[in-house]
Amino acid sequence: MTDSELVAAALEARERAYAPYSHFTVGAALLCSDGSVYGGCNVENAAHAPGTCAERTAFLRAVFDGHRDFTAIAIVGGPAGKPPTAPCAPCGVCRQVMMEFCQPNAFRIILAGNPGQPKSYTLDELLPLGFGPKNLSGNLPDC
Ligand code: THU
Repeated sequence: MTDSELVAAALEARERAYAPYSHFTVGAALLCSDGSVYGGCNVENAAHAPGTCAERTAFLRAVFDGHRDFTAIAIVGGPAGKPPTAPCAPCGVCRQVMMEFCQPNAFRIILAGNPGQPKSYTLDELLPLGFGPKNLSGNLPDC
């Protein structure tokens, strides 16, 4: 699966967003190491705090189905009803959820929105020195 194909899946997932408060709709497409793809969208809530980002929706769906190995995630977002015109970077909470399941130097986060090619970052780049399961087990990477 190419990065552009994963972005296309994220754009499709964005169509499902429930964002009546922010009117900012986000879609994500999570690529598992076995090649399967899980879409996610943001799902907001009248009480605000229980709202969930697109990225976490995708992770929770995939984990529920038994997946634990992930390769990449594509994310697109912007004002509802319009094509994205700027990259939508994942929030800190979503970066932390990625840290739970993904190899920071290998997992790729693909952002699209600017004209031209989607741009990809490793989790390491977006969450330097992140705290993950290895910290708890004492099996720490070099800092
Ligand atoms: N949002 C996401 O779903 N993913 C991101 O990467 C950034 C923000 C959502 C949360 C909220 O529903 C809306 O976008 C505005 O913050």
